[in-house]
Amino acid sequence: MYFYDSRGYGDFFNMGEYSRMGYGQVRKKISIFDTTLRDGEQTPGVSFSMKEKHNIAMKLNDAGVNIIEAGFPAVSSDELKTVKRINNDIDNTCSLARCNIKDIDRVIESDSSIIHLFIATSDIHLQYKLKMSRDQVFDKIINSIEYARSHGLKVIFSPEDATRSNMDFMERIIRAIDVDTVNFPDTIGIMNPMSMYYFIKKIKEFTDRKISVHCHNDFGMATANTLAGIMAGADEVQVTVNGIGERAGNASLEEVVSSIYGFSDSCTDIKMEKLYGLSRYVSSVSGITPQKNKAITGENAFSHEAGIHVQGIINNPKTYEAINPEIFGVKRRIVIGKHSGKAAVKYILESRGIYKTEDEINNILKIIKNENKTVDDEYLLQVVKNE
Ligand code: KIV
Ligand code: ZN
Repeated sequence: MYFYDSRGYGDFFNMGEYSRMGYGQVRKKISIFDTTLRDGEQTPGVSFSMKEKHNIAMKLNDAGVNIIEAGFPAVSSDELKTVKRINNDIDNTCSLARCNIKDIDRVIESDSSIIHLFIATSDIHLQYKLKMSRDQVFDKIINSIEYARSHGLKVIFSPEDATRSNMDFMERIIRAIDVDTVNFPDTIGIMNPMSMYYFIKKIKEFTDRKISVHCHNDFGMATANTLAGIMAGADEVQVTVNGIGERAGNASLEEVVSSIYGFSDSCTDIKMEKLYGLSRYVSSVSGITPQKNKAITGENAFSHEAGIHVQGIINNPKTYEAINPEIFGVKRRIVIGKHSGKAAVKYILESRGIYKTEDEINNILKIIKNENKTVDDEYLLQVVKNE
């Protein structure tokens, strides 16, 4: 209705007059860079086997992700082997490396065609972590990029902790480097949508290069900040499945892609119907289940219990659903519990071919309300049978 949508996903979103405010001017395809296998695996307690990493990479590829960060080959020989194996089967991969020859050589050995080079640029990291001056960091960046490019690698460069780095220093670096993409990490998640918007706008004053953003979720802002980056003109976004990653994680693939369709005039190559399976698989192998009330992939994201809501949903799902769950190939769930009304019980029973009188439904509802808990369909059917 309102916007350009190359995949025809627009009909799945039930947005309002004001919900697309701030966009309008953006009409382009946003490239999706997934770092589940690298930043995602840096989640405390998460470690994927080679097979699991390979499976995730294949599923990401199948879902239409544009660039898959396969890993950090300098971490170990096993990691190098895994990245190499993924690179054998998938073209659109990249590998992480610090700005040193040893790390870059490991990426070359892994057969990656794209290298993601990073080094911190904020004064706090320079002083307490790298113990280097700005000039020393600058030289390291120039030399590493030159070395990587001379080996035929495409380069994505990240000034780590970019959002706390001195802007003049970043301008000096960005003007001096020859890379395919500059990625701006909000490494400790300290941005908000307004500051992120102005940050990327500022960067765009001095570069025409492809810009990417990488937002961490320390204040729960990762998805919003990623969107703000897009509003300011970012071309690519770095995300992870289920938002896993260092500390509170990264912007989640599912949320960011859904928001791109919900709020912007932009589009992606992602096949929305693949996102649920991807989320479930990563959840099973990472041991991290999305919280029940997490947007898009949480168990409750498309569940309805309260009587008024269920009545609305039955009449027209657009009353209480911002997004039609069918876009993800999943069904909405009507849950029966103490907030339920007759309509929910009638709806569930009739969808199973069971027809009851109003008195019978009232009776069933009374029994369930006495339980003072949410019950599943099986339980409901048992109550019906007992009656
Ligand atoms: O958060 C971060 O700064 C990173 C970089 C390596 C891109 O993950
Ligand atoms: Zn990160």
